[in-house]
Amino acid sequence: MSLNLDVAELAATYANKSAQDILKLAFEHFGDDLWISFSGAEDVVLVDMAWKLNKNVKVFSLDTGRLHPETYRFIDQVREHYKIAIELVSPDHTRLEPFVKEKGLFSFYRDGHGECCGIRKIEPLRRKLSTVSAWATGQRRDQSPGTRSQVSVMEVDGAFSTPERTLYKFNPLAQMTSEEIWGYIRMLELPYNSLHERGFISIGCEPCTRPVLPNQHEREGRWWWEEATQKECGLHAGNLIQKA
Ligand code: ADX
Ligand code: SF4
Repeated sequence: MSLNLDVAELAATYANKSAQDILKLAFEHFGDDLWISFSGAEDVVLVDMAWKLNKNVKVFSLDTGRLHPETYRFIDQVREHYKIAIELVSPDHTRLEPFVKEKGLFSFYRDGHGECCGIRKIEPLRRKLSTVSAWATGQRRDQSPGTRSQVSVMEVDGAFSTPERTLYKFNPLAQMTSEEIWGYIRMLELPYNSLHERGFISIGCEPCTRPVLPNQHEREGRWWWEEATQKECGLHAGNLIQKA
């Protein structure tokens, strides 16, 4: 495993390289210590590319407990398709249970998604990432003009590094467009989440995701009751920090 990488230089060098080249770089430096975070949506492309480069690829998904049934089925389908273990990371029940007891199951519609995402996504992610050196996500610049237009192909994770430990984050799909992603899925006949057949583009938790109308931006289907610049759940908090 490599430490003290010159991230700014590597990010600049790889800015216009292919997603596969960026993944190769990540595997070169981190090997089996690189973890792919898979949301159960079109980021199956990332899983596919990573698996083709390394059959031992490590993949995790955050099981918020609120994903669509279709997403659970799809995650399992991907697991079987590639014959890989997908680690499902669950919320800490000692935080989740008092939260739901006090505020019910839909408090995010009243006071924003921060608290629920904090318990169902961020704490589990922090726990998971505290054991890894590098992770790769399926973030793309075109996914959210309000928050992701600057996403770099490689960065030091400003949200989940600690004073003792630098965490590296790769976003190999950063430069790809939705059209390219779907071209790849169709061309290689990858499995995909059946929600995409029903107008869903971006897919998150069931209560916080809805299909979009023709020509609506995909991000408008996420946390639609909140401001565009707040449409991050904290997984990629760096995107908001950079904007501040
Ligand atoms: S989110 O922050 O708004 O929920 P989005 O759905 O756009 O993220 O997905 C962007 C990337 O974040 C995914 O490709 C994946 O790498 C990561 N991600 C999002 N949700 C999850 C999840 N439930 N489990 C694992 N990774 C996820
Ligand atoms: Fe909770 Fe919605 Fe965030 Fe999922 S996306 S963790 S249901 S607020």
